[in-house]
Amino acid sequence: MTDAPPPAVPTAVVIVAAGSGTRLGHGLPKALVPLAEAPLLLHALRGAAGSGVAQQICVAVPPADAELTEFCHTFAEELGDAGPEIDVVEGGATRADSVRAALAALAPGTVHVLVHDAARPLTPPEVFHRVAEALNRGALAVIPAMPVVDTIKSTAPTEGDAASIAAEVVTGTAVREQLRAVQTPQGFDVGTLLRAHEVASRWEPDQAAAITDDAMLVESLGTPVYVVPGDLQSFKVTTPMDLHFAETLVAAQGG
Ligand code: C5P
Repeated sequence: MTDAPPPAVPTAVVIVAAGSGTRLGHGLPKALVPLAEAPLLLHALRGAAGSGVAQQICVAVPPADAELTEFCHTFAEELGDAGPEIDVVEGGATRADSVRAALAALAPGTVHVLVHDAARPLTPPEVFHRVAEALNRGALAVIPAMPVVDTIKSTAPTEGDAASIAAEVVTGTAVREQLRAVQTPQGFDVGTLLRAHEVASRWEPDQAAAITDDAMLVESLGTPVYVVPGDLQSFKVTTPMDLHFAETLVAAQGG
């Protein structure tokens, strides 16, 4: 394990945990779904706090949620003065709304922020360190990413007679060597990310609905987004199979 980089400037982690998790089929907010008897959020909180990169962690939970809020408060009590300050805010209808709510609660003077998905419970500390180090070296935006193993094609719905053959037809094939599967935590200069979200808050609804990460908002400002290596263990828990895989990994590591 690499050591945490020295906290060069005031740094926060935002954890977005306000998603519904319908694809996991638990009938619970995704962040509450248990992994090795602890909610996904608790794993993400431990990972972020344990990485040592931030003085504050701000968690966005579903509106009117009591249980995840309680988990955060209990975790904060366990950490005591030894760890970062833990704050909880109400998330919004979309991931971008949840990020915006958390950014509004950052301590005054925060310079760097790492935005992380609660749905990535097993992100190793090294990934937090790589992102924080790139910010400390002057990046305004940095993402962890992995090479893509599958060939990626674009498709369109079939029409007319072709629709009786299959629902979709291929429209193109991307150059795999240039593609990356992007993870979190994504790191930003706070002013840059706030400006990017402010611009995106005025986007048309269909454009706003296509926001899947924070880096794409910064890209739209024309700001370079740097890429550091992600980690296979930083996968997003989305389906029951992902959860099963996460359970297996935790058990193999004696957790
Ligand atoms: O939707 P997706 O699974 O990509 O969600 C990624 C992360 O964004 C999850 O940690 C989820 O809890 C969070 N999210 C949120 N608020 C929403 C939707 C998603 O905090 N409205």
